Amino acid sequence: MKNPIQKIYTEVPRTYEILNHTLTVGQDILWRMRAAKTVATEGGTLWLDMCSGTGEIAASLSRKARDGTTVVAADFSLPMMQKAINKPESKQITFTLAEVTHLPFRDNSFDAIVISFATRNINTSKTNLTKAFQEFHRILKPGGIFVNLETSQPRSSLIRRLFHLYVKLTVRPIGRLVSGSDIAYAYLSHTMRRFYGADELAEIVLEAGFSEVSFRRMFLGIAAIHKARK
Ligand SMILES: C[S@@+](CC[C@H](N)C(=O)[O-])C[C@H]1O[C@@H](n2cnc3c(N)ncnc32)[C@H](O)[C@@H]1O
Repeated sequence: MKNPIQKIYTEVPRTYEILNHTLTVGQDILWRMRAAKTVATEGGTLWLDMCSGTGEIAASLSRKARDGTTVVAADFSLPMMQKAINKPESKQITFTLAEVTHLPFRDNSFDAIVISFATRNINTSKTNLTKAFQEFHRILKPGGIFVNLETSQPRSSLIRRLFHLYVKLTVRPIGRLVSGSDIAYAYLSHTMRRFYGADELAEIVLEAGFSEVSFRRMFLGIAAIHKARK
């Protein structure tokens, strides 16, 4: 396994969803529903849940999809994908093992791409993140949409400090206790406190070639949903 992030995701699938729901007090479920609704509202017949993990967004999309719409779920972690394949909705989903900067899809093929809580993982450098966004741009049809749900940075410095303190005091200790993986939740805690604010991320999406970039802050700005068009 070349990528250290891929190794992290061999350690967490069993407790991944319950930990997310606990640490966000269920907010992550609402945020994913909103992101999936943004995709479904746009319509089209081919949707991609990139870095799909245990497939919560892909499952939500498959419930919203009209007849004739194909939902593809892609990720480079087989253990995470196996959790998704065990879900009842998986029969309506096409699964693909894929690395985000080299996607095995044709140019101009998808109506929508959604990614949730994985942009931080791709951001090993800004260059890598831009490369991944350019890859999404390549495989989207002209006019297609890109939706990104990710943790963010509250604008108020007081709320930002409280958020970082909450992350520091809860994510690593609770994550380690429940999942048994120290590295995974140390990594999550670290990257959540260092990731871009919503404005900065919007700039990177624009630099990758998208237009009409907008975003909505969730829950005092601790997360954000960005939407952009090819
Ligand atoms: C935090 S999980 C998010 C999973 C899911 N989207 C969700 O909302 O719960 C991040 C996922 O991104 C995948 N991932 C991270 N880097 C990747 C890359 N470079 N290529 C493909 N998948 C990647 C991981 O395997 C993992 O399943």
